[in-house]
Amino acid sequence: MTSKEALSIDLLYSLNEAAIISKTDLNDVITFVNEEFCRTSGYCEDDLIGKTHAFVNSHTHPTEFFQDLWSTITQNQSWHGEICNRAKTGETYWIKTSIFPIEDQTTGLVASYICVGFDITEKVKREQQLQSQKMQYDLVTESTDGFWHLDEAGNFVDVSECYCHLSGYSESELLLLTPSDVEAEGHKGDLTYQLSTLDKSVDSKVFESMHQRKDGTHWFVEILISYYPKHKNFYVFLRDISKRKSNEREQAALQQQLNHLQKLESIGRLTAGIAHDFNNILASILGYNELNKFAAEDLTESKLKGDILHNSSQVDIAGSRAADLIKKMLTYCRQGEDKQSETTLDLSDVLNKILIMLQEIIPATISIEVDLLENTRVTIDETDLYQIIVNLFVNARDALDKTKGTIKLNIYLVDFSLHVCSACREKISGKFVEIKISDSGSGIDSSKLTHIFDPFFTTKDVGKGTGLGLSVVSGIIHNANGHVVVDSEIGRGTTFKLFFPR
Ligand SMILES: Nc1ncnc2c1ncn2[C@@H]1O[C@H](COP(=O)(O)OP(=O)(O)OP(=O)(O)O)[C@@H](O)[C@H]1O
Ligand SMILES: [Mg+2]
Repeated sequence: MTSKEALSIDLLYSLNEAAIISKTDLNDVITFVNEEFCRTSGYCEDDLIGKTHAFVNSHTHPTEFFQDLWSTITQNQSWHGEICNRAKTGETYWIKTSIFPIEDQTTGLVASYICVGFDITEKVKREQQLQSQKMQYDLVTESTDGFWHLDEAGNFVDVSECYCHLSGYSESELLLLTPSDVEAEGHKGDLTYQLSTLDKSVDSKVFESMHQRKDGTHWFVEILISYYPKHKNFYVFLRDISKRKSNEREQAALQQQLNHLQKLESIGRLTAGIAHDFNNILASILGYNELNKFAAEDLTESKLKGDILHNSSQVDIAGSRAADLIKKMLTYCRQGEDKQSETTLDLSDVLNKILIMLQEIIPATISIEVDLLENTRVTIDETDLYQIIVNLFVNARDALDKTKGTIKLNIYLVDFSLHVCSACREKISGKFVEIKISDSGSGIDSSKLTHIFDPFFTTKDVGKGTGLGLSVVSGIIHNANGHVVVDSEIGRGTTFKLFFPR
């Protein structure tokens, strides 16, 4: 044997050990399989000889795949490719295969095919796994929620395009920052805290935070963090919940408004009940007081008579104050019941008349500055308007030093986009007639400002104020479809702006 022949035999031996080899006739009928073929497929030689390769077909490949294979080898060319077969166990396996047409020594014509293959199942499975992970990752990074991939120390490894869009930062800018750099003031360290307290065996948790965009604006974010022990990494999903939050806030404000209205309604009912009963009792007190006065007239002892008449006159004074209070209580309760006397008034005309009457109430030491725009019209009952102005002037007077100070009264036409009514908390915008009453008095403490329209809220001494004035004012204004906004600062005075529809 020549050394060349010996080398060929060694090579054949090694190839037979390492590769999966089979030989078929021109119709793909198997005439030879090596041990490696049997080991990989799980079939024995007897199972395979006389069968075609269709016996191990896994039906993974389309028909065109085998059409291409056959058209190549029937043109006496070798074919190379990766074939997925099915083993006896039912599992599939992948073979990197080469098929060579073999010529008959004597005729010189192709008489058989030799297939040589190597098992690449592990490699293919790894590739498939990677591909599916990549698809999942792409799915995550391309979703409408933001996504961060963080290392175990909580630093950025990757950020999704969507998060860049939500935050206004580019990917390269974000990768130079840390998560706490994008957290809004007051929320810095939220994520670090959640990562440090995450029970890694439970693997995920959800919390809310606030982030700051590149332009400085803030947005509410719902964050889901997951820990992947295999890679010692965190995956973070970030959802913009600003809209949901603002809806929640609006709902809470509406609920508060509703609660307030319900509270006012109960107070109104209670007040009406008390005023009604109290009125009856008062009528009886004053009635008996009258009888006392008649009886005293007949007394001969002048000191006793004088004492009784004096005391009775004190009862009358107190009684008339009580009657005033009842009247106020009833006015407060009856708001909204009667709108029939509403007419369209020329504001400056009516206010000028009211100002004359106000001279009785406001001391001359207080200066009243008036600037009234003419020909402005508002639909309201004249007596109601009188009541509003008197209440507000009396309040201003009480807030002023008795010997000096100024009360200003103005009318404007205004058009604004947003104010919040200080009494009903509704948002208001549009075109209005504004009556402005401002004083240079003591001002109102901000903690009290939210209560001044509450019925019976007063800071005045017992007997001096009932706390019903502004409740009545607010009721009348709202009856006329108006609103009221108050600005006040301790020591700098108070301004009431009444807005009526034009
Ligand atoms: N112009 C003002 N300057 C400072 N405080 C004011 C002014 N107007 C109202 N207030 C405050 O609001 C409270 C409530 O006013 P409101 O008119 O409802 O009741 P009152 O004046 O106390 O009593 P009433 O009007 O029934 O006699 C007042 O007690 C006062 O503390
Ligand atoms: Mg008052």
